[in-house]
Amino acid sequence: MQNFFYSIPTKIAFGKGSVEQLPDFVKEFGTKVLIVYGGGSIKKIGLYDTVIKLLDNAGIYHTELSGVEPNPRHTTVNKGAEIAKKEGIDVVLPIGGGSTIDCAKAIAAATFYDGDAWDLVEDNSLVTDALPIISILTLSATGSEMDYFSVISNMELNEKKGLDSYLLYPKYSILDPEYTYSVSKYQTASGTADIMNHIMEVYFNGVEDTYMQERIMEGLLKTCAHFGPIACENPTDYNARANLMWTASWAINGFIACGKLGPWPCHAMEHQLSAYYDVTHGHGLAIITPVWMEYILSDKTVDMFANYAHGVFDIPWEDDKYAMAKKAIECTKNMFEEMGLSLNLRSIGIEEDSKFVEMAEKAVAAGTDKCYIPLLVDDVVEIYRRCL
Ligand code: NZQ
Ligand code: ZN
Repeated sequence: MQNFFYSIPTKIAFGKGSVEQLPDFVKEFGTKVLIVYGGGSIKKIGLYDTVIKLLDNAGIYHTELSGVEPNPRHTTVNKGAEIAKKEGIDVVLPIGGGSTIDCAKAIAAATFYDGDAWDLVEDNSLVTDALPIISILTLSATGSEMDYFSVISNMELNEKKGLDSYLLYPKYSILDPEYTYSVSKYQTASGTADIMNHIMEVYFNGVEDTYMQERIMEGLLKTCAHFGPIACENPTDYNARANLMWTASWAINGFIACGKLGPWPCHAMEHQLSAYYDVTHGHGLAIITPVWMEYILSDKTVDMFANYAHGVFDIPWEDDKYAMAKKAIECTKNMFEEMGLSLNLRSIGIEEDSKFVEMAEKAVAAGTDKCYIPLLVDDVVEIYRRCL
């Protein structure tokens, strides 16, 4: 196990009605709020009206930025930062999924920067300060509600990159599983695949002697494999929504990675799919993950796969670890398909390989060559091809 420093500063208010605490949370930091949201799902579920009423009743000033795209753009971040500077905003309040929260984080940092927010993405050291962020989550997936990452896209450059800073942890996150009842089957499935991949990126990274973290990760993965299909089938199952929501946060809030840090190969490969083809992040991961698993299965990794098979899918121990590994990869595929996700790139409109070398070069630059099983350009291109 590696040495580590552990701290999760984000405070969580979890459960039905926890939004009532919002005014108290805001008042800790000021009285002027920038609400950030996406394409309008929060209006359909009545959450927008609830928040406006709570803020108005508490005498809290608010203005807003709407229209944050799935895979948020740096141009939208610039718009938000301009409003925040002009209005002297005290708190950024994203209401939505990971895209909205990520956009709000970048706005919080860009408010203290004179220039294009994309500069901050290219060089995270330019982040010197950030407005406080209070998030209200409506989609269980990215874990952005409890981490310090923000992923921003620049479609002109076909780039999707992380803006990472400890300053970007939300101060508070409000997690009410009922707000996720309206999430479509497709987004629920994609979100579940994303949560699972956040755990797998750590689970399979080859850092040894992390028994405790591995058993916790198997529990988190098992929770997703159990409740993901249930939430897809019955969107208003509170128990399923609540378990997925809390697992999403724990998958990426730094805890499971304590003593087990390493680069994330599937995310490095998927971010290129999003940057070039604007695909849904979790669906892209669901396509890549089983192919990547098959690609890295070897004498070096087979024991990890056997643990995964037994710990997550209850596959009985047997002498032939490869047989266990293959069954576990099949179970992973079946689970994604059971939730309705197609498992090839053609099904999402990517039908030819002309951009794969360029995309693979960017994935390698993002660290696939430093993974436990290093993936060089030829390896990544081969994985993309097998995904077709
Ligand atoms: O825009 P609205 O109208 O809100 O609709 C959204 C959007 O169309 C909809 N939605 C959200 N909550 C809903 C809802 N629809 C009905 N009812 C609700 N309650 O769902 C669609 C997708 O939303 P989005 O926020 O894009 O999804 P997600 O949470 O999966 O976020 C994806 C983004 O996060 C990045 C991804 O790369 C991608 O850009 N990531 C961020 C990470 C982080 N900050 O730590 C890590 C991840 O690995 C990931 O890279
Ligand atoms: Zn992800």
